[in-house]
Amino acid sequence: ASTKQNYRGVYHFSPQAKWMNDPNGMVYFEGEYHLFFQHHPDGMTMGAMHWGHAVSKDLVTWEELPIALFPDELGMIFSGSAVVDWNNTTGFFADKPGLVAIFTHHLDMPEGQPPVQRQSLAYSHDNGRTWTKYEGNPVLEDDAFIDFRDPKVFWNRETGKWVMIVACGQTVCLYHSPDLIHWTFASEFGKGIGSHDGVWECPDLFPLYVDGDTANIKWVMLVSIGADPAFAEGSRTQYFTGDFDGNVFTPDEDSRTIRWLDYGRDNYAGVSWSDVPEADGRRLFIGWMSNWMYAPQTPAEEFRGAMTLPRELYLESREGKILLVQKPAQELEAARIPVLSLKDVTVQEINASLAGLQLDAYGIAAKLPRGMSAGFKVRVGAGEETVTGIDAQTGELYVDRAASGQAGFHEHFPGRHSAALQAPGETNDLCIFVDRTSVEVFGNGGQAVITDLIFPKPESAGIAAFADHEETPFLSLEVYKLALPAA
Ligand code: FRU
Repeated sequence: ASTKQNYRGVYHFSPQAKWMNDPNGMVYFEGEYHLFFQHHPDGMTMGAMHWGHAVSKDLVTWEELPIALFPDELGMIFSGSAVVDWNNTTGFFADKPGLVAIFTHHLDMPEGQPPVQRQSLAYSHDNGRTWTKYEGNPVLEDDAFIDFRDPKVFWNRETGKWVMIVACGQTVCLYHSPDLIHWTFASEFGKGIGSHDGVWECPDLFPLYVDGDTANIKWVMLVSIGADPAFAEGSRTQYFTGDFDGNVFTPDEDSRTIRWLDYGRDNYAGVSWSDVPEADGRRLFIGWMSNWMYAPQTPAEEFRGAMTLPRELYLESREGKILLVQKPAQELEAARIPVLSLKDVTVQEINASLAGLQLDAYGIAAKLPRGMSAGFKVRVGAGEETVTGIDAQTGELYVDRAASGQAGFHEHFPGRHSAALQAPGETNDLCIFVDRTSVEVFGNGGQAVITDLIFPKPESAGIAAFADHEETPFLSLEVYKLALPAA
């Protein structure tokens, strides 16, 4: 069997060939979810960056399209966003609305001089298939910052203006514009708050209802922070909650504590989709499933890089605090092929049913009574296992990938990662997504999330349950394969 297929997730997006990092320009338009991505089409590590392109109608199956944006005399194409210019504010769309990409042009300078990062535009009249760079590029530059990148743009209905949030060294800056071309500085955020363990990158800013209450809106800011060798966690994404008046983001009290989007190692540079229809109303997110600490060294052949599952973001209050909650996109349910469905079963009974099953791309949903420590060993084979579960003693969700497979390519790859379960209720639930090179675990309805790469042998496909009390039954258990729906 060809080994190259072993690294390609069954239901995760990866490029057909070569290097991929951040998701870029996610926008929904005319029935398609667009996913652009940081792409080096000539190498297995970062290099001359382009925007690759894929589309999906259902967030499950992706079709990769030709490269969307190529480097030019202003530099490489770094991360950014895309929007639909419904009202032709740019003047690019006389006939019908189309897409505008807002991205960073990164220009390397001669030896000894720092690179130059500026924000530019490109537009498309054919649903992102071909692009024209705006002749007035760049549209935004600022000599004050060497790191000045990753613009995320949205339409602010209250003010009737576009808003840009862009990373500026170790803060973010907000700008507004009537036309995406002329930008006015509004405010800077980030001094004295949040984690500054690395350079700030790939910010996002969007409103969500708290507990689904349409009268209670909070703004969420995502900020990814780059890997600094001083920290074993590598690159990761933090979030803030607060208010936004069109100019200034005011963090709430909860934001005084550093909060991470994901407690695994491999969910970075993620941002949300633009222009998801209002009738849908979801805030859809996807992240790059890797970590700058070891991304160029991960086992790979022919291509390197995968995205996380597409996810829905919500704000929920628990014990008086507001939490950002992630749930796998509901469309993934269409990819389920049921394998097992059990109720009130002890761990022995579960293992009798799981014995002999060989699965490499699947999901597990389990409900446990409060106080029970239990979980699953996935991708089990000779000397290999990835362990994930709930530790009722510490009140934590965890993933241990120390023995998950190839792990020696970086000293900080092996390890155990945990996330606190806030105010567990009468039951704890565990939702696990396993694929060829990843595990994504959602605890208690997505209130604690761990996303981790793993590199098991293809034949390590066993699965088993474990529990601290052999007699206490799991309340329910479902195991299902995940396969792409037939086209
Ligand atoms: C984040 C990042 C961005 C940059 C891009 C370059 O992972 O460093 O800040 O635009 O990757 O590929």
